[in-house]
Amino acid sequence: TNKITIAIDGFSSTGKSTLAKQLAQHLGYVYVDTGAMYRAVTYYAMQKEYITSAGFDVAALVNDLPNISLQFQFNQALGFAEMYLNGVLVEKEIRTIEVSNFVSKIAEVSEVRAKLVEQQKEMGKNKGIVMDGRDIGTVVFPDAELKVFMTASATTRAQRRFDELVAKGDAVTYEEVLKNVEERDYIDTHRDDSPLVMAYDAIAVDNSALTREQQFAVVLDLVAQRT
Ligand code: C5P
Repeated sequence: TNKITIAIDGFSSTGKSTLAKQLAQHLGYVYVDTGAMYRAVTYYAMQKEYITSAGFDVAALVNDLPNISLQFQFNQALGFAEMYLNGVLVEKEIRTIEVSNFVSKIAEVSEVRAKLVEQQKEMGKNKGIVMDGRDIGTVVFPDAELKVFMTASATTRAQRRFDELVAKGDAVTYEEVLKNVEERDYIDTHRDDSPLVMAYDAIAVDNSALTREQQFAVVLDLVAQRT
């Protein structure tokens, strides 16, 4: 069968990455988590103190962008790629609630988006890729053969993200996680550059009431129709 490009977009914590990983593994495709890239830039900006609870020095970050190198490296044992920032593994550091609280601010900056989108297009030029994010079907791969737009209720999503963080030993409250999910969704859908919106030719999948297996079966069927 011929290799296609699969774009998965949607709100925070809709299970995009779970689905994308399942698909990539099953099809032998490359999986790219673009959220990890925005998170790594955020982590960098926090380390350099361009972003603190006191404010955000956008100009300083933009000026420093050429010094940020992002790389995915496949981890055989885990079965997926991990994020490296300037050669350092940051997979754990980029998943904290602190990074989650700032990331949508970083993702509003056009210069940041331009840099990451260019790298994402490059990664997908040979197809056989599953990419998840907020602007994949609209901006990164507008010609993708399959575009999925995932949705689920905010409370379902917050509960999932909360369970994930607690399992990792993070001291967070459900209310804090729900607030973060709602704030990110608001910023992501209202920004000027590449707001989160469903592509006209995307297929909406609401997984509030679907198990992982059911959701996978639905999307696999869509893939089969296109390969
Ligand atoms: O997917 P994840 O929740 O890890 O993404 C973190 C944040 O990165 C999103 O809330 C959004 O602000 C930003 N993002 C984006 N465009 C993408 C992927 C993520 O703006 N393609």
